[in-house]
Amino acid sequence: MSRKLSSAVGVLCALGAVLHPTSVLASSVTLSSRSAATDAACSRIKAAISDASAYHTPGLLEFFEDIEHWMTSSTQQSACSVEPGTPEDVGKISQLQIVAATNSSFAVKGGGHASNPGFSSTAGVHISLARFSEVTYHADSQTADVGAGLIWDDVYAALEDHNVMVVGGALPASAFLWTGYSWLTNQHGLTADTVTAFELVLPNGTVTTVTDSSNPDLMFALRGGYNNFGVVTKFTFKTFPSGQVWNTLDRVASASVNFSSKVTDPKAGIITTYNFVIGGLGVSQLLFYDGSEPPAGIFDEFLAIPSFTKDVKARSFSNLVRNIPANATSNTRGIFNTVPLLEYTPELMEIIRNETEFWGQKLSWEDSATFISYDVEPFQSSILSHGSTSSASYPASRSQALLPLNLYWAWTDPSKDEVMWDGIRQSAATVKAKAVELGQDVADAPVYGNYAIFSTALESIYGDNLPRLRAIKQRYDPNNVMGLAGGWKV
Ligand SMILES: Cc1cc2nc3c(=O)[nH]c(=O)nc-3n(C[C@H](O)[C@H](O)[C@H](O)COP(=O)(O)OP(=O)(O)OC[C@H]3O[C@@H](n4cnc5c(N)ncnc54)[C@H](O)[C@@H]3O)c2cc1C
Ligand SMILES: *[C@@H]1O[C@H](CO)[C@@H](O)[C@H](O)[C@H]1NC(C)=O
Ligand SMILES: *[C@@H]1O[C@H](CO)[C@@H](O)[C@H](O)[C@H]1NC(C)=O
Ligand SMILES: *[C@@H]1O[C@H](CO)[C@@H](O)[C@H](O)[C@H]1NC(C)=O
Ligand SMILES: *[C@@H]1O[C@H](CO)[C@@H](O)[C@H](O)[C@H]1NC(C)=O
Ligand SMILES: *[C@@H]1O[C@H](CO)[C@@H](O)[C@H](O)[C@H]1NC(C)=O
Repeated sequence: MSRKLSSAVGVLCALGAVLHPTSVLASSVTLSSRSAATDAACSRIKAAISDASAYHTPGLLEFFEDIEHWMTSSTQQSACSVEPGTPEDVGKISQLQIVAATNSSFAVKGGGHASNPGFSSTAGVHISLARFSEVTYHADSQTADVGAGLIWDDVYAALEDHNVMVVGGALPASAFLWTGYSWLTNQHGLTADTVTAFELVLPNGTVTTVTDSSNPDLMFALRGGYNNFGVVTKFTFKTFPSGQVWNTLDRVASASVNFSSKVTDPKAGIITTYNFVIGGLGVSQLLFYDGSEPPAGIFDEFLAIPSFTKDVKARSFSNLVRNIPANATSNTRGIFNTVPLLEYTPELMEIIRNETEFWGQKLSWEDSATFISYDVEPFQSSILSHGSTSSASYPASRSQALLPLNLYWAWTDPSKDEVMWDGIRQSAATVKAKAVELGQDVADAPVYGNYAIFSTALESIYGDNLPRLRAIKQRYDPNNVMGLAGGWKV
């Protein structure tokens, strides 16, 4: 998703100045009454964890770091926080022995990038995976072990020395180490399809390593199933050779339509974003090529656009990712929503442009919106061929590539949450209805859970895979321990 602001650089700086002084301590958190169950869980956790782990209470800086999120609306005040340092401690804390035994609500925070309130936050026991932060490259198997508390920037930086890359998030600070649409998705598929093993703490506290051969059911469940099956502490990803990548960060009009219909080179990718920031509509464009020089002609239509300030040079992958000012939106309230699409036509781009302008104008001033954005990510038709519906719970249909349009709205006033949630639902519904009207068969296409608003029906995300997911859940979490944590609950 692009967070590049299209208007003058001055506007970007001004926005940064408005958004960033808000410290985590001052950000709005919901104070909830603590239950006796939670109090009991907190004191038992404090006593049970090993020296590798840390326990924090409200008021400490470490506590605020544990509970904080990219979006302030995804943060809640917890009764206590814990940073387990070993999978065994995760087993002690979150599972039967304490949380389940006391019936306390809890949360599991990986990268903290959820846009949905309550998905990785709680008034009960907050578990931060920050201490799972190691990256280990295995040259012999061409895989990398990655701790579940990392965000992609850290992973890219660690792997760069080895000249390899993983199919990770496209933008700085992007997180969630599975599912995942990436710059490398055109070449290698969804992030989840490149996971070869998960280290998983099961709901009964047992630590296990899950692979396609050892446990195809749990692999299927974890590729898209979020926190329903326990807590993942480590991922093993396939790695791919990578040197310098070519890119430019520039403004552009809609040559993306032509790109999406004509360009078949899987090493090339683009993201077009319509943004409405402080009173103005703009468009920004990211171009990506996995190689030090793109083949002649591939991006010509973008590069020919007047007023394009060219910033075209070979850079390393992590340098590319760092140059995108995604963090212009951190520390505000925010929500995502999404529409699964099959193609971007000029008619559809016009509808998306109009939605950006309509909602931007409507919500910017009295409703405190700071960023109304629609990210067009036209992946190629082959992206889902790298996995199968029997090995991943998302997406349930792979006959056609799904292109998840990402709506990202940010605002500052907590009393406007409902207005924003209603608006973003309406806008996604409008785009979907228009796409159907234009002949796209997307009425029942799988919705991407990482971008879907919390009220989305599970059936829309998992489709025909839901019964199998529920059966696996019943087998591994018969007491529904993970039901004490928020999120997409099968
Ligand atoms: C700035 C930004 C950039 C983004 N870029 C991309 C992108 O390029 N591509 C893309 O596909 N998506 C992208 N996203 C979307 C992102 O993938 C989702 O928001 C995702 O849900 C965030 O994952 P997280 O681990 O950070 O979330 P969290 O808020 O930590 O968790 C989200 C959910 O997953 C569960 N969970 C997290 N870790 C674990 C674990 N280890 N074990 C069990 N359950 C766990 C949590 O309990 C919670 O229910 C981006 C989001 C942001 C804010
Ligand atoms: C954005 O992130 C980069 C890299 O982490 C950091 O150097 C920069 O100061 C951040 N910008 C803002 C406005 O927070
Ligand atoms: C656990 O707590 C929930 C409410 O949070 C309650 O509905 C449920 O009955 C409790 N279960 C047990 C076994 O105490
Ligand atoms: C936990 O569950 C797993 C999977 O069902 C099982 O193999 C294991 O024996 C269980 N462990 C305990 C301690 O019950
Ligand atoms: C897109 O392709 C059409 C048809 O080939 C062409 O007329 C148009 O100029 C192209 N768009 C851009 C921005 O180059
Ligand atoms: C623009 O979008 C708004 C909101 O969906 C809609 O009411 C309006 O009719 C649209 N305008 C055009 C020209 O399509």
